[in-house]
Amino acid sequence: MRLRTSARLLGALGAATLSAVALEACRDVRERPPAREYTEPSTRPAPPPELRRLRASLQALPEQVEVDSRKMVLGRRLFHDTALSNDNTLSCASCHDLDRAGTDRRVSSLGVRSQVGPINSPTVLNSRYNFVQFWDGRARDLREQAAGPVANPAEMGNTWPNVVATLTRSPEYVSAFRESYPAAGVTMETVCDAIAVYEETLVTPSPVDRFLRGDDLALNDEQREGARLFESVGCTTCHSGINIGGSSFQKMGAVRDYFALRGTPLTVADAGRFNVTHREADRHFFKVPTLRQVAETGPWFHDGHTTTLEDAVRTMGAVQLGRDLDATQVQRIAAFLRAMTGTIPASAALPPTA
Ligand code: HEC
Ligand code: HEC
Repeated sequence: MRLRTSARLLGALGAATLSAVALEACRDVRERPPAREYTEPSTRPAPPPELRRLRASLQALPEQVEVDSRKMVLGRRLFHDTALSNDNTLSCASCHDLDRAGTDRRVSSLGVRSQVGPINSPTVLNSRYNFVQFWDGRARDLREQAAGPVANPAEMGNTWPNVVATLTRSPEYVSAFRESYPAAGVTMETVCDAIAVYEETLVTPSPVDRFLRGDDLALNDEQREGARLFESVGCTTCHSGINIGGSSFQKMGAVRDYFALRGTPLTVADAGRFNVTHREADRHFFKVPTLRQVAETGPWFHDGHTTTLEDAVRTMGAVQLGRDLDATQVQRIAAFLRAMTGTIPASAALPPTA
């Protein structure tokens, strides 16, 4: 209170007449982070410190994203087109179904000729906000990522020259590419670019975003308790920023040995980031996944080994934080995670043909 008064005095008197003590007080006011604005009347109690810290470590999604709409429409068609796979059976959407929160809800994905893949399919929703792509971060961004599955023998099993030749046989594709990419036409780069532009629109604002913007009532009491716990037990040390994750590599089993607890043999995929860098220090490190939409993306973890959200929360508490969360805490944190389920924009779905 006194500090605020002296700040006002500064304005009234001018800096020249201020004593050193008053100057010190003024600096104190200026250096503190600005108070958040709330719409509720001032009689409402201030939110507890955990929630203020949570609001500082997570960021709300934009309500709308701007992209080139022609490229988006082209990318949307490509994302849903089985012509990208060598036997015309799979599209990107086969493993990243928007009706299944951008995943396939399998332990691990099925590629062409029903080959069982090595790892769980992450959601494409909000993937634009991940600092790198794939569990082990081997693609820098969405454009680089999109080139991978098409030519992966265990996924779409195609070759890029073949994809380009196939698309070039379609007059509609040729004219759509000519409109959006007049100089380049149909190439691996332009296909990947259009798909990436489409993926950039797959952003899902949720009640948690309204809460982060200052609307305390966007979460119910249980979700709010879960939000406090999420912050106070330390989930935000790894799941932070705009994607509530997606901003660092961390060890699966930072505190306790996850793989020993799991009790099944180690796979190549379990090595995580090690497979990219071949540095021992990176073994079992993974890109921290986004928790946006996480209630809908099970089974969970890179190995798809966990079949309930509650078990995923319990496991995280144990292996990442060394904490045995009790049933009520687990339930509240899971309720908070469910409030991260947002709305997929209507433009994401392929419009019906005919
Ligand atoms: C056969 C199933 C399958 C198909 C088809 C497929 N994906 Fe994936 N996708 C996966 C799996 C599995 C991963 C995780 C692989 C890994 O991290 O090693 C993945 C990862 C991704 C990621 C990274 C997300 C993240 O959080 O790291 C994006 C983005 C993505 N796919 C987009 C696409 C696009 C675009 C296409 C079409 C060109 C496509 N996928 C086709 C199964 C598939
Ligand atoms: C030390 C960093 C770290 C901390 C702390 C942490 N996580 Fe995680 N979290 C990760 C990593 C890394 C993964 C991916 C692990 C894997 O798939 O093997 C993950 C995965 C998850 C998943 C599964 C997501 C998916 O798409 O499969 C959930 C849910 C989750 N964390 C919730 C939490 C909760 C709740 C807390 C706090 C109790 C927490 N995490 C604390 C790093 C962390």
